[in-house]
Amino acid sequence: MNIILLGPPGAGKGTQARYLVENRNMVQLSTGDMLREAKDSGTEMGKMVAGVMARGELVTDEIVIGLIKEKLESDTTHDGFIFDGFPRTLEQADALADLMKFEGQRIDAVIEMRVDDDALVERITARSTCGNCGEVFNDNTKPIPADGKCDHCGGTEFKRRADDNEESLKIRLMAYYKQTSPLIGYYYAKGLLKAVNGLGEIEEVQAEIAAALKG
Ligand code: AP5
Ligand code: MG
Repeated sequence: MNIILLGPPGAGKGTQARYLVENRNMVQLSTGDMLREAKDSGTEMGKMVAGVMARGELVTDEIVIGLIKEKLESDTTHDGFIFDGFPRTLEQADALADLMKFEGQRIDAVIEMRVDDDALVERITARSTCGNCGEVFNDNTKPIPADGKCDHCGGTEFKRRADDNEESLKIRLMAYYKQTSPLIGYYYAKGLLKAVNGLGEIEEVQAEIAAALKG
């Protein structure tokens, strides 16, 4: 089963994708994570996108479609892909449809994660991630354990993202509403859209997604 997690910054896409990876033998394809990796390892492409990402704008379609194409061709031993943060424009959505067709695969469901804008600001400004395994924490709702060790891998270094500030978030939200939210109608028209309430507790959202993927 191949699914897309669609939602604004901070909706919980990464949090839920990690859960699906552990429980369903799926592979997470997060274009945000791939771009941050390129940036951290100092590749030419990474240097090119660093400023765009820090401002909260979208990277070009060409770059992210290229990243996804590479992964689709090389990653094959699993029970499906979770597209997290991709597609984000109608051009990316069309390109994904073509790529999937070429690979003899299809998108089975698009999970729209609905969260109020006010909650997004709160979530994003309180987020940190484990520098070793990428586990996602939140100062308010899922704090780093008191012993300072990641409860997933035992790592002791935690990172905050350069774009996790109120100023970049406003631009990320605008990019979401202007460029990404048309995908809600696009996938509704394809009969693939399933909306979940992303405002519940993390476990409640997990259960809603599981139910949406069954029915
Ligand atoms: P990307 O990394 O995709 O960021 P984003 O879409 O802005 O989404 P986030 O990762 O911020 O949020 P999330 O939904 O994963 O939430 P999370 O689970 O972490 O993209 C970053 C940048 O890369 C873009 O701005 C762009 O520049 C570029 N880019 C990436 N893909 C691109 C593409 N396809 N095209 C062009 N450019 C692209 O959760 C957030 C916080 O909330 C955490 O602290 C978590 O603990 C907490 N939380 C999660 N769920 C809950 C819950 N149910 N209740 C309470 N707290 C919760
Ligand atoms: Mg994410």
